[in-house]
Amino acid sequence: MIDQQVPVARWARPPEGPALVLLDQTRLPLEEAEQVCSDVPALVAAIRSLAVRGAPLLGIAGAYGVALAAARGDDVAGAAERLARARPTAVNLAYGVRRSERAYNAAVEGGADPSGAAAAALAEAEALHREDAEASERMAAHGLALLEQLLPDGGIRLLTHCNTGRLVSGGHGTAFAVVRAAHRAGRLRRLWVDETRPLLQGARLTAYEAAREGMAYSVLSDNAAGSLFAAGEVDAVLIGADRIAADGSVANKVGSYPLAVLARHHQVPFVVVAPVTTVDPDTPDGAAIVVEQRSAHEVTELPCPSAAGGTGGAEGPGGGVPIAPPGSAAYNPAFDVTPPGLVTALVTERGVVSPVTENGLGELCSMSLSG
Ligand code: MRU
Repeated sequence: MIDQQVPVARWARPPEGPALVLLDQTRLPLEEAEQVCSDVPALVAAIRSLAVRGAPLLGIAGAYGVALAAARGDDVAGAAERLARARPTAVNLAYGVRRSERAYNAAVEGGADPSGAAAAALAEAEALHREDAEASERMAAHGLALLEQLLPDGGIRLLTHCNTGRLVSGGHGTAFAVVRAAHRAGRLRRLWVDETRPLLQGARLTAYEAAREGMAYSVLSDNAAGSLFAAGEVDAVLIGADRIAADGSVANKVGSYPLAVLARHHQVPFVVVAPVTTVDPDTPDGAAIVVEQRSAHEVTELPCPSAAGGTGGAEGPGGGVPIAPPGSAAYNPAFDVTPPGLVTALVTERGVVSPVTENGLGELCSMSLSG
């Protein structure tokens, strides 16, 4: 296992830049390779291919993307539009883009020259990057306190889905930051890592992060979760979120909703961990959340990290290993929506909301930040 030395996202100044340099997550865990995005089309492609992914990091990347367009003297409004639309579900992406764009526009209106306005956009992206690291620390503390309250005794067995750690954040992430805090407090007995079909963010990325942290963890195929609950092996489920509607509905990686149903059936806490920037008061309910639909090839082929050196066999039209007859149709939503009634608690950097209701979320969003 390679020890991660490469930053998840870094801004490169001249002579290497201006550029946003990303750890290419499609190549993990086999290789730590950087992908240099020197313009907005390259960054949009990196976002769509999931070289950079996960809600908070998408926001950070989007904010740097606006700074990149400004530094290059490109059409900033057009670039912001393309970036904000690169993926539809994680609200953090548009949030980061608009924040950096607003800083740029304010500088222009204040009389800044192009390089001054570009510097303002970059400063905003850097501020968001730092804030995300701070939010991550606070979520970890609030989440650990919640676990101590829900499960005061003995070692805790946590189940997680997708990837929510350092790879999605300026800090240690969202749900995984809580897992890490539990591990460091000596409370984590085992982390159950859903492989997370079809793109295997659990098996490839969360297992990679868990190994680096020295956690006891096991990867399971998504469809093994039911028997794990039935065997009484799960004490709590911890997941992140891509968008939380005003009514508390949670969009997260497809496969989260079935876990919420299983957790309710087995009376196991189902906890969502996300920064306040993931709550979208403009999306009224779960039905209004736009769920990204992705290529059929992601389901009909197995992903093949390029670092593996090829498939050793036939490559499908999506670049992976074909596992279904050619031309098979597929259903491939990237996310699903869990109704608020199935969520035990939402952990944010501002504290815990439980039960998750429209009023509770409204109060959280209007509250100023405190320990
Ligand atoms: O398609 P991805 O890999 O970007 O999906 C990511 C997730 O669903 C994460 O669980 C979510 O962004 C929360 S991460 C803090």
